[in-house]
Amino acid sequence: MCMQSFDLDFPSGLNSYITAPQLGDYMIQYVDHFNLRRFFRFQSRVESVALEGDAWRVTSRALTTTEAVQSESFDAVCVANGHYEFPYLPEIPGETAWLAAGGSKGSGGSKGSGGRRRVVHAVHYDDPEEFRDQSVLIVGGRSSAVDVARELKSITRCLYVLESGCRDISREDHCCRIPMGSSLNPDGTLSYDGQQIAGEAVDTVILATGYTYRYPFLDEEGLGLDFGPTRRYVAPLYQHVIHAKHDSLCFMGVPLAVPCPLPLFEAQGFFVASHLSEPFTTETTRLEWVQKQFASVPRSQDVHFLSGNLWDHLRSLLKEAGLADPDLAAYARRLSLVQAIYEDRGRRRPQLPWEDDAYRRCQYQADYKALRYTVTLPDGSREEGSAKL
Ligand SMILES: Cc1cc2nc3c(=O)[nH]c(=O)nc-3n(C[C@H](O)[C@H](O)[C@H](O)COP(=O)(O)OP(=O)(O)OC[C@H]3O[C@@H](n4cnc5c(N)ncnc54)[C@H](O)[C@@H]3O)c2cc1C
Ligand SMILES: NC(=O)c1ccc[n+]([C@@H]2O[C@H](COP(=O)([O-])OP(=O)(O)OC[C@H]3O[C@@H](n4cnc5c(N)ncnc54)[C@H](OP(=O)(O)O)[C@@H]3O)[C@@H](O)[C@H]2O)c1
Repeated sequence: MCMQSFDLDFPSGLNSYITAPQLGDYMIQYVDHFNLRRFFRFQSRVESVALEGDAWRVTSRALTTTEAVQSESFDAVCVANGHYEFPYLPEIPGETAWLAAGGSKGSGGSKGSGGRRRVVHAVHYDDPEEFRDQSVLIVGGRSSAVDVARELKSITRCLYVLESGCRDISREDHCCRIPMGSSLNPDGTLSYDGQQIAGEAVDTVILATGYTYRYPFLDEEGLGLDFGPTRRYVAPLYQHVIHAKHDSLCFMGVPLAVPCPLPLFEAQGFFVASHLSEPFTTETTRLEWVQKQFASVPRSQDVHFLSGNLWDHLRSLLKEAGLADPDLAAYARRLSLVQAIYEDRGRRRPQLPWEDDAYRRCQYQADYKALRYTVTLPDGSREEGSAKL
């Protein structure tokens, strides 16, 4: 329920954790409710976005039999092509020798696809049955890793989850959570801190290691875009949105670990619209913000990581974009309840990645006027909570 737009509630009667098709239906309702369909062009792929003087030349191709090409000029461009398509494929310590001893290098986002041992990315994970009776190592500690671990727990022979948030090895039946620094041995066993970890030899590695940012239709170099050596950030983006040097080029949805994506996208939309109608920053301010943002994180790939900072970020986006009281105050009040509900849900999440996701069967009822919520737990009991203002 944290996902819904502040301007259009989800239809009543839905579970608090809605399904992907329900979210799809809601997006269609949203488009129709605000009469947005006239702005879309379906079945069309943007092939190039190039700066021509002060304007942007956009070339697109119809994905129909005509393959008609259109070339149009725009004052500003908002890039919203998503960033969960191109996998990030780090090499796990010991991986090369492990593959050499029983697999072979493949291509297309998988490694070792020619032998028994292989490395696949979660983007290609579809059917858990593919991993039945195998010994699997999942690498990663966020949503994909946890979802895959839960699905594989009951059908694998042995399941390891290697994640940076793990300090000490923890076990439950045939499942084992292991810290960063663990490595694969050529025989498929795992080691940590010079000691072999008890358990069966690994058959398959699933990389739930996230994705890279790619914009094949942009002249990245010409536009001064920097992605770092592993393409896990986009710079220089002011507030993760506006190109600091070409401020008529904006990027939507770049942040990572976003508790509620739709409210973020809406706030970014407001921010962009306001900036394009009357710019409220200078290039110097924007570049300084980007520099400070990089200085504030331990690793450059964390520069777009929002997580618990989302709530302050939303308020500051809207304030900076000119939303004034009483609208800003009303927004902040409602947001404080969404935050309280999201944090309540966070407290109910299990500690170990493969544990039951009972928290997703909780039902929340929000009272936005009183800023209170009721949560009905899977066993039918109820608890109450409120927003902190
Ligand atoms: C496995 C997985 C599970 C997830 N589960 C959840 C979840 O349970 N809850 C949740 O809140 N979020 C979830 N997310 C995150 C969620 O999917 C994203 O936050 C959201 O889809 C981002 O929306 P977007 O519009 O920015 O990008 P996308 O949804 O990726 O949309 C981008 C669009 O741009 C189009 N496009 C790309 N290139 C071009 C081009 N050159 N020309 C024209 N069009 C182009 C694409 O076809 C696509 O339609 C999940 C993500 C993944 C990968
Ligand atoms: N049910 C859901 O809601 C659901 C399910 C799947 C995906 N999603 C969404 O999809 C998006 C992508 O999620 P994701 O989990 O695929 O990717 P992600 O959020 O980018 O997480 C990648 C994980 O891989 C780890 N990692 C990266 N390189 C590593 C290495 N060399 N060794 C060990 N660990 C490494 C990261 O560690 P660090 O923590 O140290 O960076 C992080 O834990 C997110 O928006 C997510 O919310 C949602």
